[in-house]
Amino acid sequence: MRVTLQPARGGSMPLIKVAKVSDVPEGAGKAVDVGGVTVALFHRPDGWFAIEGICTHKGGPLAEGDVEGVTVTCPWHGGQFDIRNGNLIAPPPQRPVRAFRVVVDGEDVSLDVS
Ligand code: FES
Repeated sequence: MRVTLQPARGGSMPLIKVAKVSDVPEGAGKAVDVGGVTVALFHRPDGWFAIEGICTHKGGPLAEGDVEGVTVTCPWHGGQFDIRNGNLIAPPPQRPVRAFRVVVDGEDVSLDVS
C-alpha cells in the first residue's frame, strides 16, 4: 500500500490522530501507539509515511532507524524496509511490515487504519 499525504476532508475513513506536525520535524521518526500496535511514523521531505514499528526479525524499533530515501534500516541488525509500503528490502528479517496511509490536516497527523 502506498502511503501518501492527503488532506482529511469528508469521507468516513477510520482515522486515528497520532501526532501533531510539530511533534515530528522533517527528517525525524516517531513511534506512536495505535490501538496497542506500535507504528513508526516518518516525516520525510516528500511527505509522511507510516509502517509497523516493530521489526519482524527480533523486534527492533524501526522508528529509531536511519532513513535513506525510502529505506529505513533497523537499528538492531540492519534489516531494511521500504517506508512507502512496508516491503522487505534486506534481511535478516524474512517478512515485510504493514504500512498505513498518513493523513495530515492542518496540525493533525492521523493514520488511516481501514
Ligand atoms: S531486529 Fe531488526 S534486523 Fe534484527
